[in-house]
Amino acid sequence: MTFEHECFRILVESLTILERGFDRLPDLAPEVDLAAMRAVLAETAERLRDNDPYHHPLYIGQMLKPPHPIARAAYALAMCLNPNNHALDGGRATSAMEKEAVAQLALMFGWETHLGHLTGGGTMANFEALWVGRELRPGKAIAASAQAHYTHSRLSEVLAVPFRKIPVDPLGRLDPVELETILREGEVGTVVVTLGTTAAGAVDPLPDVLALRERYDFQIHVDAAYGGYFRIASNLVPLAREAFDRIGEVDSIVIDPHKHGLQPYGCGCVLFRDPTVGRFYRHDSPYTYFSSSELHLGEISLECSRAGASAAALWATIRLLPPEPGGVFARGLESCREAALALYAALEADDRFAPLFPPALDIVAWAVRAGSATESSARARRIFEAAARLDLHLALATFPHSMIAPVDPVSDWDADRIVCLRACAMKPEHREWMPEILKRLDAAADA
Ligand SMILES: Cc1ncc(COP(=O)(O)O)c(C=O)c1O
Repeated sequence: MTFEHECFRILVESLTILERGFDRLPDLAPEVDLAAMRAVLAETAERLRDNDPYHHPLYIGQMLKPPHPIARAAYALAMCLNPNNHALDGGRATSAMEKEAVAQLALMFGWETHLGHLTGGGTMANFEALWVGRELRPGKAIAASAQAHYTHSRLSEVLAVPFRKIPVDPLGRLDPVELETILREGEVGTVVVTLGTTAAGAVDPLPDVLALRERYDFQIHVDAAYGGYFRIASNLVPLAREAFDRIGEVDSIVIDPHKHGLQPYGCGCVLFRDPTVGRFYRHDSPYTYFSSSELHLGEISLECSRAGASAAALWATIRLLPPEPGGVFARGLESCREAALALYAALEADDRFAPLFPPALDIVAWAVRAGSATESSARARRIFEAAARLDLHLALATFPHSMIAPVDPVSDWDADRIVCLRACAMKPEHREWMPEILKRLDAAADA
């Protein structure tokens, strides 16, 4: 069996409990043509088979992680009502659940008070943080590293704010010396620090950026969309540990429960340390906000309608697996790190490959040794395809000369970038599956 079936039986039990809450209402027998539905659902299942096996440990490619069964079940349960967390009128219980779940994430970063909410994903969450940054320092630029997610330069365009790209060091981390050179010009209002870059999982040197904030006037936004939960992992390297330990000192944080938080898409989250930034969201809504004087989440969110089911799923997951150091959830993240470290060690011992650097979190990137940069890229693509034919799903990512040259994979640099292989070891099961993954990689490399 590929998927957990028993949880769907538990879902039916909880559905009965939910229904009892509405017993007083006249009966309603929804008109559903079950035979037709069965046929269409079977067709849907057939169509969905045209996917890579994202849920399986042999999928170690892109940043994809299956939701926990409780998240799936809670989402489906809430969806029967389909609450809308825009306003209390449309989603009373799930708004309360959202506030509790978001407070728990804020607490994970050491914030007893905060302003925050769930979003459709990391892009929207970063958008809100950058927008608030613009409102706080109008006319000033946004700066982010060359390895930051592409969303930051694109969102700067949307916000009509200048964007400054900061070069990275060979480990793919924002270079604080280069940042200071730009800060001296006095034009930067927000610095984006990425704790867990998308391509290589690098952790920017937050302590250095905090030190610069003592001397220059800017605010710090942390994009921890992918890496945020590693705050509670116990097996980080010192550079990452130091950055995550000081995350509470920044102005805003983005973390995506739909990446490492075991949630279905779309579930991002934006958090602000200073709750008074809520003033920027002020607007009049003649249609909503009638039910009480309590805060409606739509009053502090740019999106209007949002899935209450996302909040129910996250709340239930946090109830079952609190994001606390030493807990089951934290141990899962630690297993991901162990898997990534095992992969790195095996690649380093293999003279066909040149891993870029030891993983800071659970992403590993490696070049294929070859005579030239072009040949290395071509070999990486061939291995990627051969591995997929063996049901091992990797990813590809392009890295610049500056990040690859230290491991010297080619003698002829006939291109200034190389396409590398990349693996996101985001499932705790990757640790146990690593021997099988390596066996298939070995076969793919020789194919
Ligand atoms: C560091 C980082 N920021 C932002 C994003 C964008 O998030 P989303 O895809 O949820 O919009 C990603 C996605 O991979 C990411 O890794």
